[in-house]
Amino acid sequence: VIEDVRARMILDSRGNPTVEAEVVTRGGGFGRAAAPAGASKGSHEALELRDEGKAFKGKGVSRAVYNINSVIAPRLRGLDSRHQRLIDSLMCQLDGTPNKSRLGANAIVAVSLAVAKAAADTASVPLYEYIGGVGGTFILPVPLLNIINGGAHAGNELSFQEFMIMPVGADTFSDAIRIAVEVYHTLKGVLKEKYGAMAVNVGDEGGYAPPMKKNREALDALIKAISKAGYTPGQEVLLALDAAASHFYDKSRNAYIVDGEQLSREELLEYYMRLVDEYPIASIEDPFYEEDFEAHAELTSRIGNRVAIVGDDLYVTNLERLRKGVEMRATNAALLKVNQIGTLTEAMDYARAAAASGMKVIVSHRSGETEDTAIAHIAVGMRTGFIKTGAPARGERTAKYNELLRIEEELAGDAVYAGRLALRGLIY
Ligand code: PGA
Ligand code: ZN
Repeated sequence: VIEDVRARMILDSRGNPTVEAEVVTRGGGFGRAAAPAGASKGSHEALELRDEGKAFKGKGVSRAVYNINSVIAPRLRGLDSRHQRLIDSLMCQLDGTPNKSRLGANAIVAVSLAVAKAAADTASVPLYEYIGGVGGTFILPVPLLNIINGGAHAGNELSFQEFMIMPVGADTFSDAIRIAVEVYHTLKGVLKEKYGAMAVNVGDEGGYAPPMKKNREALDALIKAISKAGYTPGQEVLLALDAAASHFYDKSRNAYIVDGEQLSREELLEYYMRLVDEYPIASIEDPFYEEDFEAHAELTSRIGNRVAIVGDDLYVTNLERLRKGVEMRATNAALLKVNQIGTLTEAMDYARAAAASGMKVIVSHRSGETEDTAIAHIAVGMRTGFIKTGAPARGERTAKYNELLRIEEELAGDAVYAGRLALRGLIY
């Protein structure tokens, strides 16, 4: 039974205020969770409530904190912390808007996750087990590590936002992390040599932010680093992209600005077709702008048998938008960010619906993060097989990878690393 709910402001990885909530149960359980924040947000995401005004240059969260302490907390006291669905729908009702703009999705998501953690703690089980239920083997996810940052996450001219590696050719999660770290550090040398010392400053998600102009430069650097580290691109290590195309789409011209050139939707599609022929790319996120379900469907029908086409801004973890995507066969994979929709229950419904429709699910961080590790538990508990949480650097990114290392150790023989399963297309 929930005894207390309280909130405070803390800072996120970009030095902006964010909301942290704590839930205490009568059984001695405790849960603490924080809201992350995106930079390249989808326009259909639930609303992050900010104070405006002078303090924190308009990014304060005192209204969201107040909403937890004064509006949400009194209604949650006395409820059973295990009744996640009831609590989440109660918060949605209290908010009363379609996009959680009254109480703020940042307030609601922090409480929703803190409730789950408190319930798990009260039952003395780890969060992944609480989410995943008893029985069955857990799956440790393949990490998608963003090691070159572009787009809205870096001060360079790369059109695509994220250039990721997927260390699939490993027997364990810890071995996958070792491979990723070796490639990450080899890449540092590769970039330094070609672009100078400034090239290895890192972006918001811990990846390097070299002064590159063309997407192929980044892909070539990844291939070089993988080989130089002693691996075979396309074997142990695959590539993944987050184009985040809404952010290089020019609405007035109905065109995409890629590598300094203007491309029509058809030309961009052909560009992707060439890239997947030239490079071992296993996944492309948001290849077109967030309203163009048709273009996504066309790309998926052409390469969906060999490449994951992932909806992030396209779906914003929203069941309605996902349903449209399923109907139109827009993608074969869906990104999951709890704060895009605001509650754990809605996020889990979305993940289940995606999986039931044959889509891969990738649990994801935001570019503005905290030390919160809930997403590591969600990926393991829901057995999604994939997690995207930045480079193997910067504390808010390593917090998630380190938690997965702990979970792997704790589960010992009761978990399998998704790598080779994912490679053979055996996940979903
Ligand atoms: P965001 O970026 O958190 O800045 O929205 C992450 C992503 O696009 O996947
Ligand atoms: Zn994205």
